[in-house]
Amino acid sequence: MANEPIVLFDNGHHKCLMFDSLVTGEGVQSNQFLIVDGKHEALIDPGGDLTYTPLAMAASKYMSIKDMDFVFASHQDPDIIGAIDRWIVHTGAKIVTSRLWARFLPHLVSGFVSNQLSGSVYDRIISIPDAGANVRFGDSYLQCLPAHFMHSVGNLQFYDPVSKILFSGDLGASMGGGDDHLPVQDFDRHIPHMTGFHRRYIASNKVCRLWANMVREMDVEMIVPQHGKRFEGATMVDRFLSWVSNVECGIDLMGQDSYRAPVDYI
Ligand SMILES: [Fe+2]
Ligand SMILES: [Fe+2]
Repeated sequence: MANEPIVLFDNGHHKCLMFDSLVTGEGVQSNQFLIVDGKHEALIDPGGDLTYTPLAMAASKYMSIKDMDFVFASHQDPDIIGAIDRWIVHTGAKIVTSRLWARFLPHLVSGFVSNQLSGSVYDRIISIPDAGANVRFGDSYLQCLPAHFMHSVGNLQFYDPVSKILFSGDLGASMGGGDDHLPVQDFDRHIPHMTGFHRRYIASNKVCRLWANMVREMDVEMIVPQHGKRFEGATMVDRFLSWVSNVECGIDLMGQDSYRAPVDYI
């Protein structure tokens, strides 16, 4: 079934599930992630109202979602954390996000909703400093890695040391690369599906290089972006790291022509 998750990892106790087909209609294809560790649950980048119900149903298979531990939000976008109000009301989860967004996310929650809470919305947010942090989760932890300016100014990525999966958010995103159920098989043919997005959404080559240096020091078996296909295995992870280290993007490509008062009407 299209809404069934892809099992990225499962050792019986610890599971990483990916949903790649919940977005229908005009929203951009997005992947959402459910991490289960025994009786503990976390979601990564669950998105907005469009994906709330199927994700909540999927998460309910493992435990009562009231007891969900965390919702990790890599940044502030609608496809990341648009339904924060629903997760806050229907679960006890803490929302983990960059300190840059901790005071802005409460704007997504209406007064009606926040009045139903015993505490404030802000009390439910764990604000991660720029240096990142490890968040204890079940018998393990999830690592919040600094990935600022890729693309959001306060941007985190999440590494799971049990599965060795790096959830890379918008970095590595691809559009129109074919069946998103499958990992990238031919890296060279995949490049055109990533290029346009990275050139406009990622801030600069400098941050990509620094990020790749950090990841090369880690034990990563899979890089899974929030849009499009994933990179599985050492060869593909390496290919992605070297591609992204060399990609020209963002302010590298900006010149005076990018900043002129427009003359056209739409
Ligand atoms: Fe984004
Ligand atoms: Fe995104």
